[in-house]
Amino acid sequence: MGSRIVATGRAVPRTALTNSDLERYMDTSDEWIRSRTGIGQRYLMRQGESLAEIATDASRTALERAGVKPADLDAIIVGTVSSEYGFPSFACQIQQGLGISSIPAFDVAAACSGFVYAVQVADAQMRAGDFKRVLVVGADALSTMVDWNDRRTAVLFGDGAGACVMVTEPGNRGVLSSLLRSSGEHWTLLSVRATGTRSTIDSEVRRSPDDSIQMKGPELFKIAVKSMEEVSRLVAERAGVKLEDIDLFVPHQANMRIISAVAERLGMPPEKVYTNIDRYGNTSAASVPIALDEALEQGRIHDNSIVMLNACGGGLTWGANLVRW
Ligand code: ACO
Repeated sequence: MGSRIVATGRAVPRTALTNSDLERYMDTSDEWIRSRTGIGQRYLMRQGESLAEIATDASRTALERAGVKPADLDAIIVGTVSSEYGFPSFACQIQQGLGISSIPAFDVAAACSGFVYAVQVADAQMRAGDFKRVLVVGADALSTMVDWNDRRTAVLFGDGAGACVMVTEPGNRGVLSSLLRSSGEHWTLLSVRATGTRSTIDSEVRRSPDDSIQMKGPELFKIAVKSMEEVSRLVAERAGVKLEDIDLFVPHQANMRIISAVAERLGMPPEKVYTNIDRYGNTSAASVPIALDEALEQGRIHDNSIVMLNACGGGLTWGANLVRW
């Protein structure tokens, strides 16, 4: 018995901030941001918005499309590092938003790899017979964790949530294989040393530079490319699938240059690579499920398509799921 993603959903904050808007906040330019990252705009949380509510909206969409009632879920697993509180977990907030009780709901903290990690955890527990229907969510609001005086990081991140419903199913469709990796020795390449998402761009609550995202971009760039390539090869090999038989590669949308470099090393032509970083920026754990939801809406994935989900982020963490649709 395996697990299959039967429906997806996404939701983002109301406000889109373009690169030109950012030029008003800091010494940057549309040309610099586009050429270095591929980002044109991003959605940002404003005061009074709740990422848990946004994630609950994405979850409702996925549940409706799946034809699964919230009450029929066996578990909620959320990839996030943006819990509004130290505790309760983000997953418990979504559970409350959906009005359900008495099922396990928990978070997986793997930064940008959070959704890929959560899919693996759900798949393993479903194969073990623990759950039949699981809501898996990726949600983050890293815009609330940047130092708006630090142009090296502030331009990169956007906020949002993506969700999917996974159900157990016999047969050869669904998650074929997953692989997760981390390297704690690299944690200082990307970190945030304080929790909470109250410091929105329009709020008077400000993070100190020490509590904001700290990033060593160029080093991270090199490791991201290498690790995303490696894990893609390994996860395909483990499933007995040739890289050329993958129909769509849905990578974490961190930086267009990282995506292009990984795709090139894997010999993936651009038409097999889904990108939307120009419209969302780096939404961390939300980026893969948002991209997956869009790819499905655009008819880029069909029954039996082989899809590779792949991410790398703070931790460092990285991983991939290979799925037959
Ligand atoms: N606008 C204008 N100029 C800028 C900006 C900006 N927003 N940011 C940096 N610069 C300037 C710098 O000050 C520097 O100027 P200087 O040479 O006069 O000091 C110059 O641009 C080059 O800066 P670098 O940091 O060396 O720029 P680089 O070409 O390495 O690009 C970037 C930076 C885009 C962050 C790149 O290193 C990168 O993509 N790294 C990967 C990190 C990443 O994607 N992180 C996301 C999270 S990790 C993940 O999700 C996998």
